[in-house]
Amino acid sequence: MKIAVLPGDGIGPEIVAQAVKVLDALNLNLEMTEAPIGGAGYEASGDPLPADTLQLAKEADAVLLGAVGDWKYDTLERHLRPERGLLRIRKELNLFANLRPALLYPELADASTLKAEVVSGLDIMIVRELTGDIYFGQPRGISTLANGEREGVNTMRYAESEIRRIGRVAFDIAMKRNKKVCSVDKANVLECTELWRQVMIELSADYPEVELSHMYVDNAAMQLIRAPKQFDVMVTGNIFGDILSDEASMLTGSIGMLPSASLDANNKGMYEPSHGSAPDLAGKNIANPLATILSAAMMMRYTFNDELHALKIENAVKKALAQGYRTADIVTVGCKKVSCSDMGNAVLAALN
Ligand code: IPM
Ligand code: MG
Repeated sequence: MKIAVLPGDGIGPEIVAQAVKVLDALNLNLEMTEAPIGGAGYEASGDPLPADTLQLAKEADAVLLGAVGDWKYDTLERHLRPERGLLRIRKELNLFANLRPALLYPELADASTLKAEVVSGLDIMIVRELTGDIYFGQPRGISTLANGEREGVNTMRYAESEIRRIGRVAFDIAMKRNKKVCSVDKANVLECTELWRQVMIELSADYPEVELSHMYVDNAAMQLIRAPKQFDVMVTGNIFGDILSDEASMLTGSIGMLPSASLDANNKGMYEPSHGSAPDLAGKNIANPLATILSAAMMMRYTFNDELHALKIENAVKKALAQGYRTADIVTVGCKKVSCSDMGNAVLAALN
């Protein structure tokens, strides 16, 4: 099994190193090869997605990614910026289904900014469409109007087939869970998402056991804070999913806890924490590696179909938390505050 390891920028290399350690310890003969992406790709070859990196990712069975982005690249032309490398690799590999589970580990109930009773037992799967929507729609750009003022344009766009395939992913996942899908849209204002809702309703005929509900995105943002446990599977477009998954991550105590899988139609996947590169934390060995380690567990589950090793990693994370180890972002009174690498070591020890 070949894994392309793309550490990226900021805290990327530190957190990825911990996940690689854990994967190595499984003794599964995984062939892991590193390559630069994002700002690191730009530094190495003037391109945030170097051709060699893309080739490696295409040939691999799965990709493990850290994070991309740094403020120092914010003045580059847009196509050279780190984020563009990430968007391109998602598109090139056709990773249209982004799974972001927001799961509260009981030990972290006090780390959430919400009351423990609101979040305890929380287990939501956010299914975010990842290769369409306003992220990729044409036309886009900044141009100058006849009167001399500038105008910025992006286009929200979804073809029916794109909605249907992400809908199927959500319904299939719901069938293995509590059989509830909440589709999030803004159908009261945006035609694109009115179509989204229609297609979800059509699709639900194939899944009579699944209860489909619809929610406007503004209400969904509010309900996630008010009563998050009402949700089982949420399915939504690229931009709404980007925003709601950041929001949902805070229910779990920290965005440092939220893993993700981005899958193509054959379950080839790229696995990355849902959080960003946090340049302010980079090089300090204080970031939380658990989202990345949990992403490696998702890799075992979704690409390698290896539930045993997925659970092994997840149980090791639970054990490290139960033993009181916490990185700075999730530390509460009475716990042991540890560095990024020591958290990796704690998971490693729990694994054995
Ligand atoms: C994410 C990130 C990316 C996105 C950025 C870095 C391009 O926020 O994975 O959620 O918007 O998809
Ligand atoms: Mg985001």
